[in-house]
Amino acid sequence: MHAGSARELDWRNRNLEMQTAIDTKVLEGLRQHPKRIPSWYFYDARGGELFQQIMAMPEYYLTRAEHEILRGQAESIFTAAGHTPGTPFAIIELGAGDGSKTKELLRYLIANDFNFIYQPVDISSNAIDLLKENLSDLPEFEMEPLVGDYFEMLQQTMSNDVPKMVLFLGSNLGNYDDATAKQFLQRAANGMQSGDVLLMGLDIVKDPKRILDAYNDAAGITKAFNMNLLERMNRELDADFDKDRFDHAPVYENNQAVSYIISKEDQSVYFGATEERIEFKKGEKIQTEISRKYTRESLQGLLGDSFQITHVFQDRQKDFSDFLLIKS
Ligand code: AVI
Repeated sequence: MHAGSARELDWRNRNLEMQTAIDTKVLEGLRQHPKRIPSWYFYDARGGELFQQIMAMPEYYLTRAEHEILRGQAESIFTAAGHTPGTPFAIIELGAGDGSKTKELLRYLIANDFNFIYQPVDISSNAIDLLKENLSDLPEFEMEPLVGDYFEMLQQTMSNDVPKMVLFLGSNLGNYDDATAKQFLQRAANGMQSGDVLLMGLDIVKDPKRILDAYNDAAGITKAFNMNLLERMNRELDADFDKDRFDHAPVYENNQAVSYIISKEDQSVYFGATEERIEFKKGEKIQTEISRKYTRESLQGLLGDSFQITHVFQDRQKDFSDFLLIKS
């Protein structure tokens, strides 16, 4: 066997291992009571497309609000972070998505001759390829994508002394429960030097109806996003979910939008991958996602000794905030 095919085999084995780990996690969650599916399972190719549509929906104010902040306040953000055109720094983005929000900041930096390197981190090389494509219309700038685990990659960047600005935008933290969010912040802090900053975009507590509408839009795009989980399990776990016998059922409670899939009747679903049946009672729910909403105080409660809030950037309607946190 020559080197090329050995590498290909290794790559295929790694993919297979990853797929097995994904399948195991999903089935474990469905065997529990109450049942749950991890929210990262949303993002297969179709889920990614639907999420793009969600970000453009009239009800989903989050993306528009964060764009407004980053576009309108880029200068204040970098000034507050202590970055001027002359001094080199690195922007490390954890999970850049399609890059459209970051583009607002990059445009400002390029136009004002800042001396920076942009290092987006993602576990998926496909996501990085898409990001590169989406940023390709910007004038030239230094970019070094890092494919791998967020925290491992962050640790890797510790080897140089360039000051860092870490980005975690889009209220992605809200998809973690508070215990996991605390851990996330602690681990991020471990990969940063004292004085480095973290710009964290978070959705803010507001009128519950507006929040619930953002997760239950009139056109049914969020419903399709949620129900796509059943299609993914049918395909990847050889399951026989009938989508018509389940429904999308989001609620807003305790400052979080919680998405569920509810079983319309007593039924059992067969999973060919593991040759098992899982029972669903009429009205039984599978929790598929939490989207936590924050106040300054609730964020403060998660920070511990790792970070201090130095500035808060808000959109005009005060729907969303980008918090500038400095590593202690
Ligand atoms: C990715 N994340 C921050 C989105 C959110 O608002 O929780 C995912 C999403 N789920 C349904 N709509 C959007």
